[in-house]
Amino acid sequence: MLRNRTIIISNRLPVRIERHDGELHVIPSEGGLATGLGSIYKEGENIWIGWPGFVPDNEEEKQEVSEKLKELNLIPVFLTEEELEGYYEGFSNEVLWPIFHYHPSYAVYDDSYWNMYESVNKKFAEITVAQDIADNDEVWIHDYQLMLLPKFIRAYNSKIGIGYFQHIPFPPDELFRGIPWRDELLKGLLGADLIAFHTYNDTQHFLNACTHILGLSIQNNCLRSGGRSVYVEVFPMGIDYDKFNDLAQSEEIQTRAKEIRTFYNNRKFVLSIDRLDYSKGILERLRAFEFLLKTHPEVQNEVILYMLVVPSRDNVPKYKELHDEINRMVGQINAVFGNNEWTPISYFYNSFDVKELSALYVASDICLVTSLRDGMNLVCKEFIASKENNNGVLILSEMAGASKELIGPILVNPHSKQQICEALMTAIRMPAQEQRKRMDDSLEIVKKFNIRHWVRLFFKRLREIKSIQSQERAR
Ligand code: G6P
Repeated sequence: MLRNRTIIISNRLPVRIERHDGELHVIPSEGGLATGLGSIYKEGENIWIGWPGFVPDNEEEKQEVSEKLKELNLIPVFLTEEELEGYYEGFSNEVLWPIFHYHPSYAVYDDSYWNMYESVNKKFAEITVAQDIADNDEVWIHDYQLMLLPKFIRAYNSKIGIGYFQHIPFPPDELFRGIPWRDELLKGLLGADLIAFHTYNDTQHFLNACTHILGLSIQNNCLRSGGRSVYVEVFPMGIDYDKFNDLAQSEEIQTRAKEIRTFYNNRKFVLSIDRLDYSKGILERLRAFEFLLKTHPEVQNEVILYMLVVPSRDNVPKYKELHDEINRMVGQINAVFGNNEWTPISYFYNSFDVKELSALYVASDICLVTSLRDGMNLVCKEFIASKENNNGVLILSEMAGASKELIGPILVNPHSKQQICEALMTAIRMPAQEQRKRMDDSLEIVKKFNIRHWVRLFFKRLREIKSIQSQERAR
């Protein structure tokens, strides 16, 4: 009998392991990808391979974690501290992340990072292959931490269907050209049959890199590489619309949202939520907010910036620097503009659970997204999904992938504090009717192109491509 298994691979598993009081616990991720792929990897013999976010002390602990995860169809890739330093903090987050987010001066080209990236990608491949993969199986690899993996798996099986989705942008080819290992990275990805990005621009940048740097030939969006066809396409990722919509309508969240609004005296509530990252434009947002308070003193006392920053990658030096600078700026703005009744910025450096996030979305009047570069930005979609029955305005950076998809937000250039300030004034004064109209336009898109739709479309396309390829081979 022909088996047909789906294997999902990403740097992180959709759960993480934590040890408390000597006991190991499995903590499920709230992330969209985990939800979207949940129904897939839990089925039959399907599996998800990735890092469990935990470094075991010894072999017994490894064994224990593996057994716990196996019951959930999850296969762990254990990484040592040294591997995490070179592959994850180093190459992934000090080379690829800054270059792919248009910050070439932040890149640290260290040979040891590259060597570790290559060897960890091989490790992922070995663990995948050890799952006894077959021609009819399909593999879906996620994100920039695993760019070499398609090639390593392809070397083992020439027929298996391999899809790759990149959740972050792909930079213009002249920026990408600067990476000393650019050819290897492109060739790594070309082991896939379908390579997908959130936006048309990203696909074009990738295609340009393949034609300009590797000299590959191309027909429409299909590259010819080593006698194979590789399709490069756009798949804008959605969110779990129902989850955010249902939460927002629930009594519990409505009550909590009212409490939040009352706590802030029903002032205009501007919400921002990001992982700590220089690509999110957090400092630019603070500068723009400061500019608003300076140039529009009439809104002082009237508006609150509620800024939630989720800790991330705190071993990477640029993230530590950014954290310090945010602390300094928030302190400065609050000290200069605040008074006994009003603190302009409520800043939290923490992670909140999904219910609290939902209450914040419901409570807020304005969601302010100022990414300097963002693959998609799912926060703005979560905000929209929480607003079916109440108003709100989305101010969205034109550098976020979502700006290419949503109709309705006020778009801004995040480098212009004047534009952000003007957008905030427009949003603060926007009539309810206009808010509703804009929100409904965005809602329709977020609702329809949700995470399940995205997963379905991707697999449908991968299967179509596999069948085109087998017809080509038969000719
Ligand atoms: C981005 C990346 C993901 C990554 C996430 C969190 O969304 O596209 O691949 O998992 O950030 O970052 P972390 O480094 O904590 O996994």
